[in-house]
Amino acid sequence: MSVNQEIKPITTEINEKGHLCIGGCDLVELAEKYDTPLYIYDEDTIRSMCQEYKKAFAKYEKSNFMFASKAFMTKALCAILKEEGFGLDTVSGGEMYTAYSAGFDMSHVLLNGNNKSIDELEMALDYNIGRYSVDNFLELALLDNLAKSKNKIVDIFLRITPGIECHTHEYIQTGHLDSKFGFDLTQLDEAIDLIKEQYTNLNLVGLHAHIGSQIFETQVYYDEVGVILKEIRRIKEVHNIDLKEINLGGGLGITYTEADVPPSVETIADVIIRSIEVHCKEYNLEYPAIYLEPGRSIVGTSGVTIYTIGSSKQVPKGRRYVAVDGGMADNPRPSMYQAKYTAVIANKANEESNEEVTIAGRYCESGDILIRDIKLPHPEEGDILCVFNTGAYGYSMSSNYNRTLRPAAVLVKNAQSDIIIKRETYEDLVSDDEIPQRLSSKIMIEN
Ligand code: LLP
Repeated sequence: MSVNQEIKPITTEINEKGHLCIGGCDLVELAEKYDTPLYIYDEDTIRSMCQEYKKAFAKYEKSNFMFASKAFMTKALCAILKEEGFGLDTVSGGEMYTAYSAGFDMSHVLLNGNNKSIDELEMALDYNIGRYSVDNFLELALLDNLAKSKNKIVDIFLRITPGIECHTHEYIQTGHLDSKFGFDLTQLDEAIDLIKEQYTNLNLVGLHAHIGSQIFETQVYYDEVGVILKEIRRIKEVHNIDLKEINLGGGLGITYTEADVPPSVETIADVIIRSIEVHCKEYNLEYPAIYLEPGRSIVGTSGVTIYTIGSSKQVPKGRRYVAVDGGMADNPRPSMYQAKYTAVIANKANEESNEEVTIAGRYCESGDILIRDIKLPHPEEGDILCVFNTGAYGYSMSSNYNRTLRPAAVLVKNAQSDIIIKRETYEDLVSDDEIPQRLSSKIMIEN
């Protein structure tokens, strides 16, 4: 089975105390040591998924893997990905800066985004990143202008909207025509004319598309490759330019609950490679280099979040709500996308799940429900709840809502745990606050 077809990290086991262990670490002990909520990342699961990608595409020599750092980004992860031979897809100054400060090889970094700022483009140029995925006409002009001022020629993809709809949540569909991302196919000729005639510091190497996220279908990848290669063929005819690279974005789904049935990486690889073979033959093209930008499928399954159970409420003749010490600020996905998760009680891992409860977060919103109607062993105050599959888009979309502190993250491997993100403190929380002089004197007097 592919890692993305598992609900739990690959090292998950139950120890003699009946506690859940990941990476050889007892989650109850991690809760005591680091406090909760706590993000836990299993290094073996991350590496294993990276290796699956490499193995699945091994037969296609020209494959490049650029981890979509929006899914989760820290310096420690950069170190792991560098070792695994992955590059990075970034979308902001913050993501580029993290990569840079982790000592990542910036020539393996790609910059995406539909409204990159001048500062971000300058930063990318100064870091000498490897590729830009240019999204729109303004960016073409800005990037060329900045590149000229720095006397650099940069390699770019043009991001296109391929007109492919996949059956995922509306908010994470991106490839359909009415999308804020990328050039419509009807605008490509104008963009290419500009690059040829005016934007001489931009070197067009290929086309980029991303069709969506948490994808379970395989046909959409086949079609995506077809649309891109057809366009490359057309561009060759019309503009006499040979585009040698295609960036297919990310999107492979993971298994949040038993109801999710994503394809394996191997299946996706076979579909993509077959589509390249078929379409290159049809259009008489050389095999292009492929770029892939997987995010969720690389880190999703590797991460879990543990919480401590606190208060609970039995609605007369209704649900039993069990509250945990985190919720929508450390994982906004349930309230944002109605995302579903699987969980167990880490200290009752061998007990039968015979009670149906709803896991509520601690935030001041009725919508802050982490998991609706889940069966667990009788939950009690002090129990440690482990929610699986929070490795992607959990920490990266977290907030300080209600002025709560962002949890810590630890990396586990071979029974060792190491902090990779420190828990925030109240001092951190107010460290960026300023009181204007005129108010400051007032508050001092009143105090
Ligand atoms: N490349 C591009 C251009 C993207 O926009 C994305 C995700 C990816 C790659 C990575 O896709 P992945 O392999 O992770 O599916 N916050 C949402 C997901 C938003 C995805 C945005 N773009 C969620 O929590 O479900």
